[in-house]
Amino acid sequence: MRSPPPPRRDRTVPEPGDRRSVAARPAPLENLYDHTAGPDLPLPRALARTYGPFRLPRGVRGPYVVGNFASTLDGVVSLQSPGASSGGEITGFDPRDRLLMGILRAAADAVVVGAGTLRAVPRHVWTAGHVVPSLAKEFATLRRRLGKPPTPWNVVVTASGRLDLRLPLFTRGEVPVRIVTTSAGARRLGEVRDLPSVEVTTVPGRRSVRAVDVLRAIRTPGRGGVVLVEGGPHLIGSFFAERRLDELFLTLAPQVAGRDRITRPGLVAGHSFAPEHPLWGSLVGVRRGGSLLFLRFTFAASPRPPGTSRRRLPRRPDGRR
Ligand SMILES: NC(=O)c1ccc[n+]([C@@H]2O[C@H](COP(=O)([O-])OP(=O)(O)OC[C@H]3O[C@@H](n4cnc5c(N)ncnc54)[C@H](OP(=O)(O)O)[C@@H]3O)[C@@H](O)[C@H]2O)c1
Repeated sequence: MRSPPPPRRDRTVPEPGDRRSVAARPAPLENLYDHTAGPDLPLPRALARTYGPFRLPRGVRGPYVVGNFASTLDGVVSLQSPGASSGGEITGFDPRDRLLMGILRAAADAVVVGAGTLRAVPRHVWTAGHVVPSLAKEFATLRRRLGKPPTPWNVVVTASGRLDLRLPLFTRGEVPVRIVTTSAGARRLGEVRDLPSVEVTTVPGRRSVRAVDVLRAIRTPGRGGVVLVEGGPHLIGSFFAERRLDELFLTLAPQVAGRDRITRPGLVAGHSFAPEHPLWGSLVGVRRGGSLLFLRFTFAASPRPPGTSRRRLPRRPDGRR
């Protein structure tokens, strides 16, 4: 007889007594390569002690848009296993990875997720304090030093509007929430008048929402702003496809997840780039924490393969290169 599946719970948040909450102040990361640009984040000492100096550039066309993902050695970003499909299972809930997530959320004006990511961790709220509660004070200090309000906007992107508005993200009022959706999605969501912290923005498009419309809907403080895209693979695929991602933070975990009958997604789903429209990044940062690598790649608007200079890129279907 098959054993019943484990109960579904949000494994992104360590619970009291959970061994994951123990090592909140992990050993410093080893800085192996650093070609990052931009002003230093004014990190409080407890954060700087682990991460070291942390530079983040200003955006060129608007807010600086960063993605943050964790991947196994074989390119899996979600185990797609009931109760065990968050990014935490990919890194083994590594405390250094959680600290990085916390810093990025603390630096962000808005954290954007797709509806699939919310469905995977339905009780989550995308603030720094939710990933490392013991460092909540330090994250709050960082936001104050950056002149940002206590919490970032949490932005949920959905085409269908199939969201459970009874989830803590929507009902607790802990963070301001913006749902960006199609007109059909907005119709399905109906009235959100009883949820004072939730706003719905309807954008053009029937089956999907363009990354550029998500960014417009967020209305961050322009070039000084930071937008953090925390996935999942479908949503980040749209940002890559429209060349709207400035930088990717990628944590490479020393785990081989494998693939069998279940489909386990990689970093991008729903979009294909190479070979017709290859998308090349530039490595700008490498840090090591134990056997994990913390990588940073920038993505210019006109990416070229490494080692080439002026090769004309093929035109994309929308006419851009
Ligand atoms: N390892 C990591 O770092 C990491 C990071 C993030 C997520 N994940 C994992 O990835 C898995 C989820 O994968 P996923 O690809 O389903 O995630 P996803 O991109 O968050 O969700 C896909 C859903 O989000 C909505 N969506 C995304 N992009 C959209 C767009 N451009 N326009 C309109 N709607 C859009 C759609 O919702 P509707 O169906 O409502 O229309 C779509 O079905 C989860 O297991 C999650 O834990 C892992």
